[in-house]
Amino acid sequence: MDIKKNDVLTATVKALGFNGEGIIDHFGTTVFVPFSLAGEKIDFKVLKVKGNVAFGKVKKVISPSISRLTPVCPVFFKCGGCQLQHLEYPKQLDFKAETVKNCFKKIAGLDVDIDKKFASPNVYAYRNKLQLPTRALKSGNAVGFFRPNSHDVVKTDVCPIHPEWANKVISAVNEFIEKSGVSLYDEVSGKGVLRHVVVREINGEYLFTFVINAKTLKNTDLLTDILKRDFGKFSLYLNENTSDSNVILGERFELCFGKGYITVTEFGVTYDITPQAFYQVNTPVKTEIYNDVLSFVSSGGDTAVIDGYAGAGVLTAMLAKKCAKSVGVEIVKEACDSAVKLAADNRIDNMEFICGDCEKVLPELIEKVRKTYGRVVLVLDPPRKGVDVKTLTAALKNPPDEIIYISCSPQTLARDVGVLTGSLKYENNQLINLSKDFSPNYDLKFVGIYDMFAQTKHVETVVRLSRQ
Ligand SMILES: C[S@@+](CC[C@H](N)C(=O)[O-])C[C@H]1O[C@@H](n2cnc3c(N)ncnc32)[C@H](O)[C@@H]1O
Repeated sequence: MDIKKNDVLTATVKALGFNGEGIIDHFGTTVFVPFSLAGEKIDFKVLKVKGNVAFGKVKKVISPSISRLTPVCPVFFKCGGCQLQHLEYPKQLDFKAETVKNCFKKIAGLDVDIDKKFASPNVYAYRNKLQLPTRALKSGNAVGFFRPNSHDVVKTDVCPIHPEWANKVISAVNEFIEKSGVSLYDEVSGKGVLRHVVVREINGEYLFTFVINAKTLKNTDLLTDILKRDFGKFSLYLNENTSDSNVILGERFELCFGKGYITVTEFGVTYDITPQAFYQVNTPVKTEIYNDVLSFVSSGGDTAVIDGYAGAGVLTAMLAKKCAKSVGVEIVKEACDSAVKLAADNRIDNMEFICGDCEKVLPELIEKVRKTYGRVVLVLDPPRKGVDVKTLTAALKNPPDEIIYISCSPQTLARDVGVLTGSLKYENNQLINLSKDFSPNYDLKFVGIYDMFAQTKHVETVVRLSRQ
């Protein structure tokens, strides 16, 4: 049956897709309808049709799911930050577990069991990092969050996935804008000064970064006074970003107030968090991941760990305490400098850090480390795009004994685990699926999901692979 733009149709949602949207099968056309839930009968309007895929919008929920909730956030249906507030929390976890399983099946042809589902201890008010775009819109100044797939800012005074301090930040930023008269950034003209406000809160201390499309910000004294009034211990940075890209931070930072970092101690390692440093957004979930990763690395004189995509070396240092040697590999120079300082400050002398691209460094490094130590455990914690398949193929020429893969993208994780196990093979610039008939290089010992990003579609996964 034909489907065209502006049709209003009635159907039952069969499942949730990777992005948390309802999926409807309309006579061979797959229709994605955000904010609908599996099993619900809905009226939906067709917004776009492309071949046998269409996108729609809920007009009316005729028979709501028993798992449907009224979202806590007043701008949930407009803002792109969360996708699942209308779904009760245990079902969010089930959805994420299914997403991971489906990715393994569809992408790598692998059937996996989810061995652990770690719920976020706080399902709201959990984020320790706030990223607040500030924009000049036709309708006036807007401080809030981006709309889905757009650079339009949805104004808001509150964000329930952040603790209460974030609402105080929004109010303080609005007060500063009003009193100082600072112009807000306009992406079309490239004009306007204030682009973004980024804040980290850890143990009651704050790191503020005001990102500006200029060299200086007028009235920083006024800003400092407002922050002093509302926040206890804090540091304030200005960050210059005059690029027309959508990268939030520019390269130059200027410390205007405070000591400039927050010191944290965990698993016996003390380190400083700066605005540039990678730091997971949900502290107790991050701790659980580190705990599990450390428990997978057996202590012993013959085990060396290579920590690929190591950030500022926090996990590398923790791993060093468990084995003979730990070597971190990281591409960003500042993060490498922090890691070297961290090792010295904590007097960890069996930790080494290499500033370089994992794609180039890992294959040789695995070989070198194996020659010196007997067992090699490779930890991988790449960004969303995953590990390059060529790197994995090269690494497999000298396969590590164990691989622990921490991932924020189930799709690239499944692809990479497929290559590592051998269910996928990279040949002539193409991935070939061999899953029907292959003898695995690695056993999948553990797949765990960790809900770092409650109320959103995102999920963190840890996989442990042991050599056959
Ligand atoms: C998800 S973070 C990992 C952080 C670290 N494992 C931790 O727990 O703090 C990913 C890191 O990989 C780094 N990175 C991205 N591409 C890289 C590459 N090709 N080679 C080495 N490091 C890379 C990023 O700069 C970032 O610090």
